[in-house]
Amino acid sequence: MRLAPPAWILGRIAVKADTLGEYTLPARATILISPYTMHRHPRYWHDPEMFDPDRFSSEQPPRFVYMPFGGGPRLCIGQPFALAEATLLLATIIQRYHLQLAPNTRVEMEPQITLRVKNGLPMELTRR
Ligand code: HEM
Repeated sequence: MRLAPPAWILGRIAVKADTLGEYTLPARATILISPYTMHRHPRYWHDPEMFDPDRFSSEQPPRFVYMPFGGGPRLCIGQPFALAEATLLLATIIQRYHLQLAPNTRVEMEPQITLRVKNGLPMELTRR
């Protein structure tokens, strides 16, 4: 959810002219917000490229720095469902199988409307 957020980019249209930091935005400007970039921003994350889920027990990023489900009034309504489903699925699969990336597989991201894995993610499963 941090390093490969499915919603890697979000779009908004400015309802009126405004300023954002040093930038002037005309009315109707398209604004792209990238959770992907914020989730790896070295200003906010210690060792940002490293996969370390435990970081969340000690690191608490500021608001809107970690936003895999967006934020504000348009926050994903499926968030609790998606998190419960993913946790149950992972716990169920991992209890039964050991998963290993298939040999000679190059993991490459493919940013479309959602962030995908180019050519899928072939895994070898061995029963535990
Ligand atoms: C890992 C799974 C999911 C991710 C990463 C995700 C991510 C997001 C994000 C980032 C937004 C905000 C879009 C924006 O601000 O422009 C959003 C909105 C939304 N999501 Fe999800 N979502 C997930 C699962 C689901 C599920 C399971 C459902 C439905 C059961 C769902 C329904 C919605 C709906 C209806 C909105 C629009 C809410 C609104 O505009 O008021 N999502 N989602």
